[in-house]
Amino acid sequence: MARRILVATGGGDCPGLNAVIRGIVKRAYLEEGWEIFGCIESFNGILKDNIEIIPLTPKVVSGLHVKGGTIIKTTNRGGPFHFPVQQEDGTWTTEDRSELMKRRLENLGIEAVVNIGGDGSQRISVALENMGINVVGVPKTIDNDLATTDFTFGFQTAVQIATEAFDKLVTTAESHNRIFIMEVMGRDAGWITLHSALAGGADVCLIPEIPYDPRKVAEKIATRYRDNEGFCNIVIAEGAIPFNGTVSGSSSTLAGDLHFKLHGAGDRLRSELEEIGVDHDIRVTVLGHLQRGGTPTAFDRILATAFGVKAFELVKDRKYGQMVVYRQPDILHVSLREAISQPNLIDPKTNAFVHAARGVGMSFGD
Ligand code: F6P
Repeated sequence: MARRILVATGGGDCPGLNAVIRGIVKRAYLEEGWEIFGCIESFNGILKDNIEIIPLTPKVVSGLHVKGGTIIKTTNRGGPFHFPVQQEDGTWTTEDRSELMKRRLENLGIEAVVNIGGDGSQRISVALENMGINVVGVPKTIDNDLATTDFTFGFQTAVQIATEAFDKLVTTAESHNRIFIMEVMGRDAGWITLHSALAGGADVCLIPEIPYDPRKVAEKIATRYRDNEGFCNIVIAEGAIPFNGTVSGSSSTLAGDLHFKLHGAGDRLRSELEEIGVDHDIRVTVLGHLQRGGTPTAFDRILATAFGVKAFELVKDRKYGQMVVYRQPDILHVSLREAISQPNLIDPKTNAFVHAARGVGMSFGD
């Protein structure tokens, strides 16, 4: 009988997901005796009353490395341990369907699951592994906040998109002598913020790892305006926090969605600056999901393809409970437990790019 793998993409989508899927399938079909299936909408496809999984063949994945998104869909909602179920009165609750998932995997003759996802998805990988399910993880997130790998795929694409947007905001800021605040993604880690700020030449960069003081930001703005001439460009992470403050956002109201939704960091900064008397025209641009859409950059296609090939090879060698990682110049693997043991945050004291940013006069609001 063929050896079977089930592939799932979980959490927010990310440029390069399709390239990973293609890498797994192409590598598998170099050998005899493999069948690869895609689970639709993360693990929900195998948890629903009517199972939704599709065969992934070389024909299905042909040319996919260029395509953004994920052909097998994804979601932040649900999963084996919090599957949303609607009650007769119309309200929603969640239920643990992990045992059902295990049974169904056995019935379908699936030997291992490849879970392509970020921190939340890899926590699910560990929980599944604890139940005796064979899992291999692939680190995905534009936020680059997973430790043990030099980069997650999707990050470089997000930085490129943010940098191109920033360049556009600079010309309009300059024309109007305005202050522009560009809010980018970055829940716990400021990697997209720092890299796009450095690439674009921002005046101020506000990241979750360095709580900011609006008065320090105002001081930097003042140095940018002479006789009311000048302009100022700020990049702020969605997860940035003022001194003694908290993140800006709200809880989801959807059953099975455990994500706290971040929003409003840029608008809050504008209010803070206005309150302390900054009287230049301030505009806020929120890049949002633009950073996750479209075609992956060359680097992300390469990394994602290499991750897909390695993920298959780990299953082939029965090295389960592992996550593939990039440790330049090699593609290696670490245990899933190690992978989720700590997040990949910027260390403001030692990070070379924080040092470089400060070296060109960028303010971190501290
Ligand atoms: O985890 C990646 C990320 O892009 C975060 O930066 C952001 O907070 C989150 O996803 C938003 O996801 P969604 O809008 O899909 O809930």
